[in-house]
Amino acid sequence: MQEFKSFPFDIHDVEESDKRELSKYFLGAGKFSIQVGPKKYLLMSDYEHDAENIYNMPLRHDDIFLVTFPRSGTTWTLELVWLLASNLDYSTAAKTHDNLMESLNKKHADNPEYLKTLQAMRTPGSEQASKMASPRFIRTHLPLSFLPPTLLDSTKVVYVARDPRDVAVSYYHLSRDFQSFIFNGDFKTYWSLFIRDLVYWSPFFEHVKEAWQMRHHPNMLFLFYEELLQNMPATLQRVATFLGKEYRADQIEELSTHLKFENFKNNPAVGIYDMKEYGMMASKGEFVRKGKSGGWRDYFDEDMTREAQLWIDNNLQNTDMRFPSMQ
Ligand code: A3P
Repeated sequence: MQEFKSFPFDIHDVEESDKRELSKYFLGAGKFSIQVGPKKYLLMSDYEHDAENIYNMPLRHDDIFLVTFPRSGTTWTLELVWLLASNLDYSTAAKTHDNLMESLNKKHADNPEYLKTLQAMRTPGSEQASKMASPRFIRTHLPLSFLPPTLLDSTKVVYVARDPRDVAVSYYHLSRDFQSFIFNGDFKTYWSLFIRDLVYWSPFFEHVKEAWQMRHHPNMLFLFYEELLQNMPATLQRVATFLGKEYRADQIEELSTHLKFENFKNNPAVGIYDMKEYGMMASKGEFVRKGKSGGWRDYFDEDMTREAQLWIDNNLQNTDMRFPSMQ
């Protein structure tokens, strides 16, 4: 039995001026924001009611957690972790993902509680997790410090990080198309909110650094999105070893092909079709969008590029973490 622990962090309202800005730009969730803990992670207010439950959620020895900042390659990594852990069972993989989506009923679209339902989906509800069959593959955007303190003693955790400039571009597109955000500004505005830690689940660097600090723990695998792009077979081998699995080179090759962007984009298991059908995502929205590294260059003018470099340099000062795209 895990010992029950009170949630150790303060939960605050967002400062009035920031709240005004959030409400102005995030028409979906802007009004419902809170900041949590000393690092002031910006979350949607539903989290407050589940924070302690999540912090105390009963863990199972075969759980695998996938922890990411949004738009860092979560969906992609979940598919590969699931397949590697499940003896490459492609036929079941095609059906299993997004059981959350399956549980959503079409009638929600006309229900006044719908927005609430959408917001609840933004957090890994402790209740949803408790109902999942083992082995559980639990993805969350919550930082490690908000998950059970015994997490790494009991379960395996994969963390994926991505160049924050590409994350920001990707997140901007999602935020415009996703009904729980409905961001209505331009990219420059989005970027200024991003580096002021006013997009959901930020501060970005604190999120990543929490995991980086734990990267040597035997139950933690820290990956970069860019490593997966640059050398998928080698990265898949690392994940397989971490999961205690062995695969032949031809199996890894086949999995690499399955996971290639062009193939993955058309994979119905990614769940996007349901999201559009339920009106959670604009019909033009793309969940699996470009799948590249360095696409940020098309969005940043000279001033923004300089500002980004300064922000990155400041945040990397006290850590040996280096993104593959910055070397
Ligand atoms: P882009 O918007 O830059 O294309 P998440 O799943 O965490 O929301 O991350 C989404 C990002 O991962 C999107 O980035 C998406 O295109 C990218 N992605 C998804 N599948 C991918 C794949 N097979 N190869 C490369 N990138 C992929």
